[in-house]
Amino acid sequence: MTKANLDWPNLDFGYHETDFNIRYTWSNGQGSSGELSSDQSLPVHIAATGLHYGQQCFEGLKVFEQKNGDVVVFRIEENAKRLIKSCEKIHMAPVPEELFVEAVSKVVNANRKFVPPYGTGASLYVRPLVFGSGAQVGVKPADEYTFIVLVTPVGPYFKTGFKPVHLVVEDEYDRAAPCGVGDVKVGGNYAAGMRASMRAKSNGFTEVLYLDAKEKQYIDESGPANFFGITEGGVYVTPQSESILPSITNKSLFTLAGEMGLKPERRQVHIEEIFGFQEAGCCGTAAVITPVGSITFGERKVVYAKDDKPGKYCTELYNQLTDIQLGNIRDTHGWVKAIRPE
Ligand code: PLP
Ligand code: COI
Repeated sequence: MTKANLDWPNLDFGYHETDFNIRYTWSNGQGSSGELSSDQSLPVHIAATGLHYGQQCFEGLKVFEQKNGDVVVFRIEENAKRLIKSCEKIHMAPVPEELFVEAVSKVVNANRKFVPPYGTGASLYVRPLVFGSGAQVGVKPADEYTFIVLVTPVGPYFKTGFKPVHLVVEDEYDRAAPCGVGDVKVGGNYAAGMRASMRAKSNGFTEVLYLDAKEKQYIDESGPANFFGITEGGVYVTPQSESILPSITNKSLFTLAGEMGLKPERRQVHIEEIFGFQEAGCCGTAAVITPVGSITFGERKVVYAKDDKPGKYCTELYNQLTDIQLGNIRDTHGWVKAIRPE
């Protein structure tokens, strides 16, 4: 297979056009069979609920070329299940798990030449999207939904790659409300986070670390990723919160941390605990594992990465996870699934 002519090792996390996306629409339980399209745009009804009332959600997962040439997707059924939860929470008709897997497989196969070659550090990012495409003016669920899967080859989310990033604790703006929709992947959560993120960036930080919106004492997550700390006592600790996205990467690291001899713990994490960690990290599909170099909290700052170097636990977790994804070590958990050419 001749690959697309791209500068694979230097790809950013941006939209790089591919040959095809796939689209489905359905109403009243009747769906289309899925149409591969090379059109990069989409005609949308001007009164679609996705445009007016935020009836929209998405997913993000990655496809890799392994050492032996296999093209694999990481934990696809977890993303399929989370998309169902997101759809249900905002009253959209959910995409069945089998349809999700079928759509991803078809669109990846149609774009195989865009799967970055093994060893380049890049991957094919898969972005499934559902929105209310039916027209309403009153606030109520649409009677028609559109499901699209697009793919784009990407490099690291944070442009420095596997290098420490600098977070600032946000205690003025909230990303998500308790009992709200922070635990699902709806676009409005990202819109809500933009002003804090833009302010953090303009003040020289990489991203925001949010506190829980109710008590402003416990760590929630970062804008695009979950958060974890490694305590001096060897605990991998990650926040339990009803307003954060249950990260599939974090769930995987939780397992790997246990296997590495760390003690995994999911519980409320008080913000003062950051001063006792030996390492900290952000994790997610796009962010993979990004070591946290420092966290600024008001007038105080804790520095984890001296000399801009990732710590040994973040490095080991990163290597374990990416070695499984790339087939460098055996996947004993059944996390990767091959997408065979049709
Ligand atoms: N938290 C937020 C807000 C995210 O957008 C993401 C990305 O999907 C994550 C966490 C990480 O989740 P996952 O590891 O499933 O990609
Ligand atoms: C992902 O990691 O897949 C995400 O959706 C995060 C997004 C902000 C790029």
